Amino acid sequence: MKTPDKTSPKTSTNTFAKTTGLSDNSISSTSFDWTDEAYEKFGKESQILSHNYHQSPLFSDTALINLLDNYPRKWLQCYTMGIDPLKHKEWTPVHIDKLTGEEIITAVKKGRMWINVIRINEYQQDYVDLIDSMYVKINNNCNNITNAKGSFSALLISSPGIQVYYHLDADPNMLWHLKGSKKVWVYPNKDERFASQQYIEEIIGQERHENVPYELWFDEHAQAVELQAGQVLSWPQHSPHRIENVDLNVSLATSYQSRESTRLNSVHAANHYFLKPMGISNRSTETQGIIPAVKEISYRGMNKLKLLKAQSRSASYVSNIVADPNSESGMSKKDDETRTAFSYVD
Ligand SMILES: [Fe+2]
Repeated sequence: MKTPDKTSPKTSTNTFAKTTGLSDNSISSTSFDWTDEAYEKFGKESQILSHNYHQSPLFSDTALINLLDNYPRKWLQCYTMGIDPLKHKEWTPVHIDKLTGEEIITAVKKGRMWINVIRINEYQQDYVDLIDSMYVKINNNCNNITNAKGSFSALLISSPGIQVYYHLDADPNMLWHLKGSKKVWVYPNKDERFASQQYIEEIIGQERHENVPYELWFDEHAQAVELQAGQVLSWPQHSPHRIENVDLNVSLATSYQSRESTRLNSVHAANHYFLKPMGISNRSTETQGIIPAVKEISYRGMNKLKLLKAQSRSASYVSNIVADPNSESGMSKKDDETRTAFSYVD
């Protein structure tokens, strides 16, 4: 798990309960209860399961507005995008730092915006505890997962009808849906047709962002679901996925690292940093045995010693678009292009 930023306004346990007058029980009673079969399949195939976090006071309308009011602006990302799923370069940053929580929600309802409330797993102890407890439970019940710990989590608040382009994430992740409904397409992992090994290596080697090339026919091979509040979608590590919202959505995206997921990423990283430069084109992704173990030790050792040079992934955070609750489209344009507050994230 990432080390909390020293400047993080992380509050003491149950601060939220104290400030809202809610009991600890009403927060901690939300969870999930899966069958042995569901735990057995977890991470091996994509699954929709149930939870009741959407009933937690931590995600009520009032709680979300309070959270947004106080959230560090460097950790509050906002983007807009077009309507064509093939044009991922239309993903554009939006200034949002000057708005109150209520203004943000009003603008999101009107506009085409995707808000990433990043590092929620480091921000306030109630959210930290909730996410930690998810992975304690998953770790205790999944025989194929060892030492699972949350690695990166974000609360996602997004407009009706928006999309998230086709991409894959390095760490295994899951989407706990809390409000509204969204269509999600999950595509086969370990299949060169949908994401080549080279792209996965480059994502893990931080040479490219998570977007990978997409074609419309991929959808014929996807598992397409319409996710409702109270459902959680999980999929095997490195499965590409994309999203289209139906209405206003709130979800919690959580990622985790386990011994198994770290081994797989380390093997890809070793392939990327060591084998590819040697001109070896047939790079095994096997994770069991001595050679994968050596790959992991070599990669992690070199990485720890900061001997690996990650390519700089070019990202533009400059924008002249501003979230605007008073505009019919929820957004307006300002004269000059400036860096968004979230471009200064450390
Ligand atoms: Fe994702």
